[in-house]
Amino acid sequence: MKIMIIGGGGREHALGWALAKSEGGRDFYFLPGNGGTISIGHNIKGLKDHDSIIDFAKKERIEFTVVGPEKPLVDGIVDRFDEEGLSIFGPSKEASQLEGSKAFAKEVMQNANVPTAAFEIFDDFNAAKRYIEKKGAPFVIKADGLAGGKGVVVCSNKREGIEALEILMLERKFGESGEIVIIEDCLSGIEVSVLALVSGDKILPFIPSQDHKQIYDKDKGPNTGGMGAYAPVPFISGKDTTRINKEIFTPTINELKKRGIEYKGVLYAGLMLTKEGPEVLEFNVRFGDPETQAILPLLNEDFLELLLRTNEGSLPDKLDWNNQYALAVVLASGGYPGTYEKGFEIVIRENDCILFHAGTKIEDRVLYTTGGRVLSVIGVSDDLEGAKQKAYQCIKRISFKNMFYRKDIGDKGIKPL
Ligand code: AMP
Ligand code: GLY
Repeated sequence: MKIMIIGGGGREHALGWALAKSEGGRDFYFLPGNGGTISIGHNIKGLKDHDSIIDFAKKERIEFTVVGPEKPLVDGIVDRFDEEGLSIFGPSKEASQLEGSKAFAKEVMQNANVPTAAFEIFDDFNAAKRYIEKKGAPFVIKADGLAGGKGVVVCSNKREGIEALEILMLERKFGESGEIVIIEDCLSGIEVSVLALVSGDKILPFIPSQDHKQIYDKDKGPNTGGMGAYAPVPFISGKDTTRINKEIFTPTINELKKRGIEYKGVLYAGLMLTKEGPEVLEFNVRFGDPETQAILPLLNEDFLELLLRTNEGSLPDKLDWNNQYALAVVLASGGYPGTYEKGFEIVIRENDCILFHAGTKIEDRVLYTTGGRVLSVIGVSDDLEGAKQKAYQCIKRISFKNMFYRKDIGDKGIKPL
């Protein structure tokens, strides 16, 4: 089968890697791909709008497309492919509102009684400001629309809150995304990510994983796209898993159905494990990055078949995992998530970890940095500590100028509080 993968990050390299191990995977096309995906298939640059992607898919007779990032999904690429009779993995434009509009997601959760922080929605700056002035800190302000992970501010006092409102609603730093804001209560606990394949009524969760969003050790500093992840999460109990399925995934999918929206694809629940139980921080309508890099190496299934079966509505009842742990450490360009230099040569000496590329390119057989998150290094072992040791051993064999990475990925799983 000829397969196209939209995106060029570590997640897309991991998706391609898993699909290439599948029996039915043949020719691979990455739009635009990176220095790692080139060893799996072709990197195709410059196809930005849906029309040119569809033209390309037709010309190359692509038989199956997998979408990595949220933007094309929220913009309706799946609906466009469906109209053209082209096969694609991911939710429709309407279903993608679960990520594309946080207000929509909150209303769905409220109607379905899904545990999530109490909230108010505002489209007027002065009304939002008055609300903050009455409300006690801490609270969380969120831009309604997509903001590349930067539209959420956890505020510890009113001044921070008003500043965030000004940036989102008046300065419009994230454009239309800040037209509407959600102000919600601050939840405390431990964050985990649970991704599930969803097809009709069937919901098939992957093993839980944990991201490390802040740039520095001990979760200090600004948020990033994610500095590392591991799977599975040892402190999630069977009871938690049952509650996540029963109280979160099932009612959310049912509520969408009531509204005439069928969800098909992967649904990612960003959760806070609070004292009262799991609560939803956000939904994403795609695979997580870097969670995917830690999850897929442990999957004992034909990944292509699984995605095709999601589309056909014939998902199996359970997934087979190898009983190991995988831990992904992201190597970033120093300065990320702020400004950073790129174009440095990357030297990788032989090591026995899986490497997924993100901001890399190959020119004349030399690998260079091209982005903030450059590589993820995945250690797999029988226990989490072993997976951590392995990943960090491999990192010693990789170098580029200004390389930066967190040293504590996995610690919350190894030594739970
Ligand atoms: P989101 O994009 O909504 O997941 O928010 C990004 C990050 O902000 C989350 O990963 C949490 O660390 C934090 N966050 C979001 N909502 C809340 C909340 N209600 N309480 C505490 N932290 C939150
Ligand atoms: N790891 C966070 C995300 O994919 O949104």
